[in-house]
Amino acid sequence: MAIHLVLALAFHAALTSGAELVVPVDGKVASIIATVAAASSGDTVVVPAGRWTNCSEPIVGLGSGVAITVTGAGAADTIIDCEGTGRILDGSTDFDGWVMEDMAMINGGGAIDDADARAGCIRVRSGCHLTLRRVELMGCTLGGARTGTYKGGAIHVANNAYLALVDVVIRDSTVTTVGSGQGGALASAADTVISFDNVTISGCGAHSGGGLWIAGSKVYIHGAGLLVEGNSAADTAGGAYFRAGTEFFGAGPLIVRNNAAGGDGGGVLFRVATTNGTIASIVATGNSAGGCGGGINWGHDAPITVTGGVVASGNSATDGGGVCFTQGRREVTVFLDASSNVTSNTASRHGGGIYIAASSTDMVLDGTYVSDNTAADGSGIFIEGSSNVKPSLWGVIITRNFSPTGGALALGDFPSASVDTAGSSSCGNYGGNNEAVDVHCHGDSRFVNPVAGGCTQGSRCLRADSACDHAATCASASQS
Ligand SMILES: *[C@@H]1O[C@H](CO)[C@@H](O)[C@H](O)[C@H]1NC(C)=O
Ligand SMILES: *[C@@H]1O[C@H](CO)[C@@H](O)[C@H](O)[C@H]1NC(C)=O
Ligand SMILES: *[C@@H]1O[C@H](CO)[C@@H](O)[C@H](O)[C@H]1NC(C)=O
Ligand SMILES: *[C@@H]1O[C@H](CO)[C@@H](O)[C@H](O)[C@H]1NC(C)=O
Repeated sequence: MAIHLVLALAFHAALTSGAELVVPVDGKVASIIATVAAASSGDTVVVPAGRWTNCSEPIVGLGSGVAITVTGAGAADTIIDCEGTGRILDGSTDFDGWVMEDMAMINGGGAIDDADARAGCIRVRSGCHLTLRRVELMGCTLGGARTGTYKGGAIHVANNAYLALVDVVIRDSTVTTVGSGQGGALASAADTVISFDNVTISGCGAHSGGGLWIAGSKVYIHGAGLLVEGNSAADTAGGAYFRAGTEFFGAGPLIVRNNAAGGDGGGVLFRVATTNGTIASIVATGNSAGGCGGGINWGHDAPITVTGGVVASGNSATDGGGVCFTQGRREVTVFLDASSNVTSNTASRHGGGIYIAASSTDMVLDGTYVSDNTAADGSGIFIEGSSNVKPSLWGVIITRNFSPTGGALALGDFPSASVDTAGSSSCGNYGGNNEAVDVHCHGDSRFVNPVAGGCTQGSRCLRADSACDHAATCASASQS
C-alpha cells in the first residue's frame, strides 16, 4: 500500500513539470484567487477538500500564454459554494488553456439586473480557452427583474471562445426572468467551439432551451457523449436547442431523455438549414412537447447526418409524437435510415410517430421502422397537404400503430402534393376506421409508387390483414 502510494506520487511528479501551490485551508474563495495569482504557466493550484465561499470577486486568469491546472480533491469534497453571491469564474483571453478539475461549483449567480445578463456560475468570454474535467456544477441561477434576454443559467460561452467539458455534470440550474431566458445549463453565442465528452445536463430550466441553447457553434460530442435529461422549457426545446449554423462533429451519442417543452421540441430541436455535420446517434425517449416533435423537432431540414441512426421511443406531443420535420427548403438528404426506428410515441392530434409539415420539401426516410405509435390520425406518419410537400418514404415499414379515427399513414389534402412511397409497407395497423386504418388520404393527394392499397386521388384504402415485414407488400389491401 505504502509502496504503491510512493510509486504513484513519483509517477505523478514525473508527469507534472510545474510547481504545486496549495491553497491555505481557510474556506475563502479569495484565497484561491490569491494562490492562482502566484502561479506560473504549467503550475498546479491545489484546492484541498472543504467548502469555499464568497464569490464577491470571480476567479480570473493569468493572461496569454499562462496555462495552469486548478485541481480539487474531487467533486464530492472540494466545493466552491457561491451562496448566490456572484460568479465563480469570469474568463476571457486571460484564460489561455486552463484546466479546472475534480471539484464542485455550486450556487453561483443570483439576481443580475444588467443589460448583459449572462452566466450564473461561469462566464466564458471571447478568447477564453477553458477545460472543465470531473466537475459538477449545481444550483447556478440567472434571474432578475429586467426585461431582456438572459443567457446561461450555469455557463455562457461568447463568440470566439473554447470550452471543453469532460466527465462533467451540470444540474438543477435555471434562467428565470420576466423577459426571455435561454439555456438553463448552458447558452452560447455563434462562432464558439464547445466539446462534450461524457457530459450530463439534468434538471435545468429556461424559457427556451431548458438544458442547452447553442447558436452557431462547432459542437463536438465525444466518447460517452452528451446526456440531456429531465430539463424543461416553458416555450421551445425542453432539452437542447441547436440553432442556425451549429456544426456537429465527433463519435459520441446524443441522448435526450424525459425533457419537456411547452412549445415545439420536447427533447431536442434543430433549427435552420445551416445547422449541419455528423452526430454518431440520437436516442430520444420519454420526452414531451406541447407543440410539434415530442422527441425531436427537426427544423428547416437541417442536413445533419446521424450515422448510427435515430431512436425515438415513448415520446409524446400534440403533433409528431416521436419526430416532427418542419420548414424544409433544402436539397434531398436522408434524415432517418434503416438504423432508425420510431416506436411507441403518442400524438394527441396528428403523426404519432412522425409528422412531416407542409413546408418540408424533398426530405427522405429510407428503411425506417415505424411501429406501435398512437395518434388521432396518421398514427405512424402524418404528411401535411401542401403544394410543397414532396417527401420520399423509401422502404419504410409502418405497422402496429393505433389510430381511433384515422389511419397509420395519412396524407393531407392537396392536389399537387406528391409522396414517393417506393418499397414502403403500411399494414397490420389498428383503429376504428376500418376502411383506412393502414393508409388514409384526406382527398386530392398523390402517391408516387404507391404502397399496396395506396391512395389515388380522393380514394380510401382497406386495412391489410397480413403480417408486415420489410419484404412484404400488403397483399390483401385494396382500394374501395
Ligand atoms: C467577501 O470577500 C470580499 C473581498 O473579496 C470582502 O470584502 C467581503 O467582506 C467578504 N464577505 C464576507 C461575507 O465575508
Ligand atoms: C462519466 O463521468 C462521470 C462523472 O460525471 C463518471 O462518474 C463516469 O465514470 C464517467 N463515465 C465514463 C464512461 O467515463
Ligand atoms: C456546414 O455548413 C457550413 C456553412 O454554413 C459549411 O462551411 C460547412 O462546410 C458545412 N459542414 C458540413 C459538415 O457539411
Ligand atoms: C429499435 O431500436 C432499438 C434500440 O436500438 C433496438 O433495440 C430495436 O431492436 C430496434 N427495433 C427495430 C425493429 O429495428
